[in-house]
Amino acid sequence: MRVIEVENLAKSYGGVSALTDLSFGCLEASTLAVLGPNGAGKTTAVKILATLLRADGGQAFVDGIDVAAHPREVRARIGLTGQYAAVDERLTGRENLELVGRLLRLGSKESAARAADLLTQLRLSDASDRVSKGYSGGMRRRLDIAMSLIGRPSVLFLDEPTTGLDPRSRLEMWDLIDDLVRGGTTMLLTTQYLDEADRLADSIVVIDHGHAIATGTAEQLKQDIGGDRVVLTLSEPSQRAAAASAMSPFAVAAPRDGDHDAELIIPVKPTTTLVEVLRCLDRASVGVDDIEMRRPTLDDVFFRLTGSTTSQEPVDDDR
Ligand SMILES: Nc1ncnc2c1ncn2[C@@H]1O[C@H](COP(=O)(O)OP(=O)(O)OP(=O)(O)O)[C@@H](O)[C@H]1O
Ligand SMILES: [Mg+2]
Repeated sequence: MRVIEVENLAKSYGGVSALTDLSFGCLEASTLAVLGPNGAGKTTAVKILATLLRADGGQAFVDGIDVAAHPREVRARIGLTGQYAAVDERLTGRENLELVGRLLRLGSKESAARAADLLTQLRLSDASDRVSKGYSGGMRRRLDIAMSLIGRPSVLFLDEPTTGLDPRSRLEMWDLIDDLVRGGTTMLLTTQYLDEADRLADSIVVIDHGHAIATGTAEQLKQDIGGDRVVLTLSEPSQRAAAASAMSPFAVAAPRDGDHDAELIIPVKPTTTLVEVLRCLDRASVGVDDIEMRRPTLDDVFFRLTGSTTSQEPVDDDR
């Protein structure tokens, strides 16, 4: 059964269109990643599903329940960890959790028991009685997630759970998300990182300008966009054509420009090695200052799907 279902959602803020005809769905006890750059409409879609915002058009369902018609029933089933933390910095981890328990009318005994369980599950026991202002970014995120788990939601929305985390906290967050899904939670997470969607999601919807531009498993998307990329920094930008031609035995698609005029990005066959590439470039007398092989990024997906790189918009901090 599809636990999350979004059909032709539309939403604008004043004159700014945030979602246009957005549709996607997610099966029970699986993870859906909503992948898109800044301003794509990820938070708007999550807020509509979490009943915090009303759509202008289209419909959204959680567990088959229309979020606009029955927001209270939906709220009883979901947890939400927003993009900006809901933690009260003046309180300890335990106090934050017990407060949520009381807001949900669990009673003080049940709130305390639930808080203690979650502090253990989210590896916050040692810090549970410290004021959360002193928590690291990763700890604060875990506490934030713990707060959204107090009511035992069957569906959890995580809006950019790893943005701003250091690499180690990011890996810990991935493990935590895995644990929750194994426990039967249906997960919708938003992310700007292809590798994160690849690692966590059973299915991925790529959105741009409030619209789905691709849907599928990570495998399907990767097949669509090809495998690794070789990124060349040319000693002489004028040698682009020569470099492209020297790379043609390895390339699976046309090269594209990188961030600056000496950079060239080439999608390559899976068997390609940097040693062979260097040898070939050398034979063609193409000088390189730097060479790198990397996994495809969100930018690569966008380039493949739209012919342009992600349209980065400034992030507003007042949302
Ligand atoms: N409260 C608001 N008032 C006006 N415009 C808004 C508001 N919230 C979002 N928008 C606009 O709607 C569009 C989608 O924004 P949204 O926050 O949903 O994107 P996002 O994918 O979550 O981006 P980010 O990765 O930066 O969090 C953007 O153009 C944004 O500027
Ligand atoms: Mg957002």
